[in-house]
Amino acid sequence: MSHAASAPGRVNLIGEHTDYNAGLCLPLALPQRTTATITARSGSGLSLTSAQTAEEWSGEVGDRPDGWAAYVVGVVWALREDGVDVPGLDVQVTSNVPIGAGLSSSAALECAVAVAIADLTELGLDHAGRRRLVNLCIRAETQYVGAPTGGMDQTIALLAEPGHALLLDFDDGSATPVPLPLDEADLALLVIDTRVSHSLTDGSYGDRRAECEAAAHALGLDSLREADLAAVAGLQDDLLQRRASHVVTENARVRATVSALARQDWTALGTLLDASHASLRDDFEVSCRELDVAVDAAGRAGALGARMTGGGFGGSAVALVPTSSLDAVREGVDAAFTDAGFGPPAHIVVTPGDPARVEEVS
Ligand code: GLA
Repeated sequence: MSHAASAPGRVNLIGEHTDYNAGLCLPLALPQRTTATITARSGSGLSLTSAQTAEEWSGEVGDRPDGWAAYVVGVVWALREDGVDVPGLDVQVTSNVPIGAGLSSSAALECAVAVAIADLTELGLDHAGRRRLVNLCIRAETQYVGAPTGGMDQTIALLAEPGHALLLDFDDGSATPVPLPLDEADLALLVIDTRVSHSLTDGSYGDRRAECEAAAHALGLDSLREADLAAVAGLQDDLLQRRASHVVTENARVRATVSALARQDWTALGTLLDASHASLRDDFEVSCRELDVAVDAAGRAGALGARMTGGGFGGSAVALVPTSSLDAVREGVDAAFTDAGFGPPAHIVVTPGDPARVEEVS
């Protein structure tokens, strides 16, 4: 008998490069999802196919595949390490989450596979069961795949609340739904996929993480969550000072965003998005020309604010746009890309989607 499950991609509204600093972020699940269908087979081997690529993979967990297969096999590895009796599996994947767009296609894949296996092995998908899967999917990505990511993506994929963003606090581990009443205000979130691919395993992401740890160490702290701007200003090393400054100010912007949303102060929200982008571009240095052009052009064409979203070094920007200005913003960004000599970006209007769930097998 087969078991299927799906999990969403995500867009982070604000709170970037804060998760691995015990900080705050505010992601929402996308309507776009990845579905994994699994069938148990004898032995311990795995056989993987994907509708998105001709690349198939068969082998054992110890064979350590590259590419998309590593995320699937890593989840099987993490579950087995945690004592779950995962049999050999045939796994079929299909997805409409854009790949390499900074929209967390990898966490969607991990979480879809994890929930399908949880269904097969009757692990239970109550809140505690989902929390366990979050941790195992993070382990798959950091320890098996070797991408030193922070946990935001797996947490939102498994714990998302429809119609809400989720305020994640990586210090106390809480996840608090935050209503996102954009419709009522005739506003939309526009994701602009620059189509410049990034990789979180190429070292730049890990460098940022190490710099943050070094800054915390220089301040005598366990993490930058405990840092304040006055102490950060006293850091001798200019690079560490700028990295830490981003993290401290970004945590403050997440809090200010939650408060702006509660007041429905859309102008304030737009200003916070712009400030987040400037900080990621200038202090944290994870933007790129395509993202900067997208953010600037969106603002000039009528967005209330915009910022890069996700790990950076390419990927997507997110813009807060009055519904009446959506066409103008899309056209403005397209024109700016043409002028800059970039290939055309893709545009997706997003609303908060559902968490990972078991699906009927078709
Ligand atoms: C990637 C990682 C996340 C997070 C973001 C930056 O998406 O997977 O854990 O660190 O980058 O906020």
